[in-house]
Amino acid sequence: MKRNIIITGGAGFIGSHVVRLFVNKYPEYNIINLDKLTYAGNLANLKDIEDKPNYKFVKMDICDFEAFYQLMQDEKIDGIIHLAAESHVDRSIKDPFTFARTNVMGTLSLLQAAKLYWESQPTPYVVEHEMADGSKLKAQSRFYHISTDEVYGALEMNRPEGIEPPFKTVASSEGHKAYGDEFFYETTKYNPHSPYSAAKASSDHFVRAYHDTYGMPTIVTNCSNNYGPYQFPEKLIPLFINNIRHRKPLPVYGKGENVRDWLYVEDHARAIDIIFHNGKIAETYNIGGFNEWKNIDIIKTIIKTVDIALGRVELTEEQQKMNSSWLMAHGSLPDEMFPDMSLITYVTDRLGHDARYAIDSTKLQKELGWEPSLQFEEGIEKTVRWYLDNQDWMDNVTSGDYQKYYEEMYK
Ligand SMILES: NC(=O)c1ccc[n+]([C@@H]2O[C@H](COP(=O)([O-])OP(=O)(O)OC[C@H]3O[C@@H](n4cnc5c(N)ncnc54)[C@H](O)[C@@H]3O)[C@@H](O)[C@H]2O)c1
Repeated sequence: MKRNIIITGGAGFIGSHVVRLFVNKYPEYNIINLDKLTYAGNLANLKDIEDKPNYKFVKMDICDFEAFYQLMQDEKIDGIIHLAAESHVDRSIKDPFTFARTNVMGTLSLLQAAKLYWESQPTPYVVEHEMADGSKLKAQSRFYHISTDEVYGALEMNRPEGIEPPFKTVASSEGHKAYGDEFFYETTKYNPHSPYSAAKASSDHFVRAYHDTYGMPTIVTNCSNNYGPYQFPEKLIPLFINNIRHRKPLPVYGKGENVRDWLYVEDHARAIDIIFHNGKIAETYNIGGFNEWKNIDIIKTIIKTVDIALGRVELTEEQQKMNSSWLMAHGSLPDEMFPDMSLITYVTDRLGHDARYAIDSTKLQKELGWEPSLQFEEGIEKTVRWYLDNQDWMDNVTSGDYQKYYEEMYK
């Protein structure tokens, strides 16, 4: 099966995992990574696949309607997987306009260009590919928009102590708890609170409107927080791993009580692959691993994991003795035994900070057979290891040198 697919935002965190998966898994597809290379786009994330014959990078702004329309025609595009976005909530609070421009106008620009191209085909929304042997192959077009659970707003944290969760997946951590009775379902009403989530919500509405109004084959998915390799270190997990390594303070919003639902990024990429190929047109799918964590608990877990990985738990003989008796009595070590707990610094809470996100992904699991592959404890260890082993990547990003990579590689 031949397909010509544009993946937008492919130089970013999640996009780079999706591009890698598609390029490696589908050698018969042409995969075009379209990215503006903002501060969050880093082509070094894709070094391992950049020479593959089925991969091409195009530097483009998704707001550039003309250029995108031309690209659709030149490459006979039949599929779009749209991840490009401004993605950091804190930045959206400082600069909402950029978020409206990219996330709303950018998405609209892609939709309109795709509509014009796909409607100009002999059979609207079906793209005909000429094969090497002269035969013709028809590909049903598809516009797949990647969104976030943040569009649903915040859930109440009416079980602050945590209760036995009603759901579990492979991703759920050992001591997994639910911190409230409600979950986000595909039917949950949108109620975004930050400029980031408001802009993403707006783009989701436009995508659905293009299906309902023009019959464009669209799909929307809403995923929980992702973690894993290649995430820009302004986001909690890579930022804290790097700070712990360099023994810098760890700024924790409010009391660190906010709850997020975490999924390993490769499990999100696998879900995107399954949904792109088998998802039903006009449907929405929630993606998440049923893995709720209070920020403060996740931070403590990261500290312990980094400290152990760096061999920092080697304490004095007396402290070690205390450790052993603690371990015998309680089965695990208390926080104070880890050297870097003292780095935790509580700072003024983020404006409008949502209390709890928790997503129900039962529909995706039941209808399309997706399930996460990695338990949280394994995933976090793998992630910590990756950032510690790839200090060059981190140094490049934190020094800003990664932005020269494009000039070196593509000019
Ligand atoms: N990170 C998460 O936990 C998470 C969870 C759910 C959904 N999402 C969604 O997944 C998508 C990807 O998120 P991410 O964390 O990988 O983001 P990211 O910030 O790491 O990457 C975004 C990418 O988009 C590119 N980009 C930004 N503006 C552009 C423009 N105008 N034109 C072309 N390219 C542009 C950037 O250069 C970058 O490569 C976003 O749509 C986000 O809303 C993210």
